[in-house]
Amino acid sequence: MSEQIKVLIVDDITSTLDNLQKLLSFEPDIQVVGTAANGKEGVEQAKKLVPDIVLMDVNMPIMDGIQATETLAQEVSGSPVIIMSVQGERDYLRRAMQSGAREFLIKPFSGDELIASIRRVYQLEQKKESFLAKTTTGAEKAPAAPPDGEAKQRGERGQVIFFYSGKGGVGKSLIAANLAVSMANETKGKVALVDLDLQFGDIGVLLNLDHSQGITDLIENIDHMDQEFIREIMVDGPFGIKVLLAPISPELADLVTVDHVRRIFGELRKMFDYIIVDSSAHLGEINLEVLDHADRVVVVTSLSIPAIKNTKLALKIFDSLSISPDRVVLLLNKSDAHSEFNKESVEANLRFPIAGQIPNDPKLVINSINRGNPFVTTHPESEISQRIRELVAKLLPTAAPAPEPEAAEKKPRKGLFARR
Ligand SMILES: Nc1ncnc2c1ncn2[C@@H]1O[C@H](COP(=O)(O)OP(=O)(O)OP(=O)(O)O)[C@@H](O)[C@H]1O
Ligand SMILES: [Mg+2]
Repeated sequence: MSEQIKVLIVDDITSTLDNLQKLLSFEPDIQVVGTAANGKEGVEQAKKLVPDIVLMDVNMPIMDGIQATETLAQEVSGSPVIIMSVQGERDYLRRAMQSGAREFLIKPFSGDELIASIRRVYQLEQKKESFLAKTTTGAEKAPAAPPDGEAKQRGERGQVIFFYSGKGGVGKSLIAANLAVSMANETKGKVALVDLDLQFGDIGVLLNLDHSQGITDLIENIDHMDQEFIREIMVDGPFGIKVLLAPISPELADLVTVDHVRRIFGELRKMFDYIIVDSSAHLGEINLEVLDHADRVVVVTSLSIPAIKNTKLALKIFDSLSISPDRVVLLLNKSDAHSEFNKESVEANLRFPIAGQIPNDPKLVINSINRGNPFVTTHPESEISQRIRELVAKLLPTAAPAPEPEAAEKKPRKGLFARR
């Protein structure tokens, strides 16, 4: 696109306004279309000019930058805001993040940082708009594209193994990644690893993968998605596993809908024997969709009160959703970590049996994470790797219970998760 990026600058210090304007005037693809001296004026100008980017100071008279950003997010949502703040305004930053700002520049910042930030936010916005335009042209309502004749047919459905925890940071991603690799090695089956931690997925980092493509590339082309295309977008991991990575930027997570996920998993099931899914702790619609259809749900917990409390809540919700306990595999991570709890006390508290235990091995784990090499490949004889192999064995279909009836027959979840 040869059009210039239209920028509105909002700052109460005249010399800052002048400097920024001068700096940006050297960039052929950027045009400053207006300036404002406080948040209120900034909002008025933004409504009039509808800029591509608003550069917003925080501390200003009449209306501060946070309030102005909140107003803009609601009233001029096509004008993303980059906040310019001084160090020490961390609380402001948190509020700004909640108010809808896209990026933050900490003063003093360099001209290069500013320009890169403007271009980045602009490009992401363009990408987002083009995704939205495509997905609202009726594509979402269209029936799934007929499967490409050449790519399959697998007689059976692949098994979906969904990793979940009610609390973040308990080891889901680490275990899911190592399990996927171990599963491929042990079974010689076709294994997919899907990163559904859509905002902050780190499977790519854990396996040291090139993160140039992922799930957003699939949804951008959802109507033309066939198995060949899915295979192209998935990245090669160790032992032949194929990895579907999370979006490259957290804000793109919102573009992924339940319908997209349903369609993607419909194809993955035909392509792979095992589909290992990493998730975030958030029980939103997408996680619930996969949860409903997963063959096994591995709930990861650890020996801490918050983890146990949230596991208890998660198990209670599963029960309300009629997810059979037979499908749930409760896994205690860092099971030998020093704690006033142990396996038995956790089981008693949760009233649920622990099916597997993964030892605490900080040295091996940190090394493995930092190098992006799964420990099951570098240290197959370590205890932690052996426990992962045991988990593989537990998750094989022969050990699996009969699949649940279709989700449609289950309790409606609206009551629990009614939205808006
Ligand atoms: N068995 C273990 N031994 C030693 N360290 C571990 C073990 N499991 C997890 N860790 C540590 O805990 C950290 C968090 O693990 P991981 O990122 O897999 O958690 P998560 O549940 O996916 O978190 P999030 O919810 O934030 O995605 C790891 O970076 C690692 O340092
Ligand atoms: Mg994770």
